[in-house]
Amino acid sequence: MSEQSTTAQETHPNDAPPVLVEFEDGIAWVTLNRPHKRNAINPGIVYSMLKTMEDLETDDRCKVLVLTGAGDAFSAGMDLREYFRGTDNNPKERVKLFRANGQWQWRMLRHYSKPTIAMVNGWCFGGAFTPLVSCDLAIAAEEAQFGLSEINWGIIPAGVVSRAVAQLVREREAMYYVMTGEKFDGKRAAQIGLVNEAVPLAQLRDRVRELAKVLMAKNPTVLRTAKIAHRIASEMTWEQAADYLMAKVDQSTFQDPENGRNTAMGQFLDEKTFKPGLETYRR
Ligand code: COA
Repeated sequence: MSEQSTTAQETHPNDAPPVLVEFEDGIAWVTLNRPHKRNAINPGIVYSMLKTMEDLETDDRCKVLVLTGAGDAFSAGMDLREYFRGTDNNPKERVKLFRANGQWQWRMLRHYSKPTIAMVNGWCFGGAFTPLVSCDLAIAAEEAQFGLSEINWGIIPAGVVSRAVAQLVREREAMYYVMTGEKFDGKRAAQIGLVNEAVPLAQLRDRVRELAKVLMAKNPTVLRTAKIAHRIASEMTWEQAADYLMAKVDQSTFQDPENGRNTAMGQFLDEKTFKPGLETYRR
């Protein structure tokens, strides 16, 4: 742990907002902000993330959403004290809380209308795998530590963690980590397909910024349709996907205020001023 972040974690005020949002040139940096609790996801984070995501979806300052954690953790997963034990004797609150958590962690994130990147800066355990997997892309610090630690404290990777892991990680590796609870680092997370790549922690923010800029250069209508269509088509039969994807092409072309398809065709076929294999058309 670095000296600077130790200090930040120790001096964290009790009334600090559970989620921070900073805007920077189209990027909304969304930071889980309980560093003194390793950003364990408590009711405060759940309801605040739900609101934050609803707000950002229609906020023009957010073109790409980056999800990360304050201090040395991305997130140590669900808060054992407040999320689990705190609702053991309150089934009504539990239903409400668990639903709200599923809402932001995957129902909204998986089909979010803006591109999302998980920036895994440190500890990432259990319930934190769900938003990690649900983000479109993920870049980790090589030094980050991941773990399906549920087995170590007497539950199974539930919520929807096992389903999320199965989406990205091959069965052998998934079963190994589900059953052993062994932790692994960012490089290993990239090897097994849980994140796109791992970079040294010192370069993490710059790499994420660079990736966000690539996404922001694309036609946003087409980017939104492409990511959602990919997720939905991946769970269809080939026949269904063929029909659905053609309908989505028509939908995105019809909705696109930039008329991107025809503009790009003109630039490539008539003007010969750009090559779609190498770059994005002039917008
Ligand atoms: N739920 C509730 N509290 C948690 C937590 C969690 N998931 N993860 C960390 N915390 C709390 C600790 O209880 C501690 O609180 P305290 O200061 O009141 O004692 C504080 O956060 C700091 O944690 P600590 O364990 O001292 O930090 P560390 O840097 O030594 O270790 C971890 C970091 C992530 C390895 C360790 O906190 C841990 O194992 N957390 C649980 C991870 C887990 O199994 N998550 C799955 C949940 S689904």
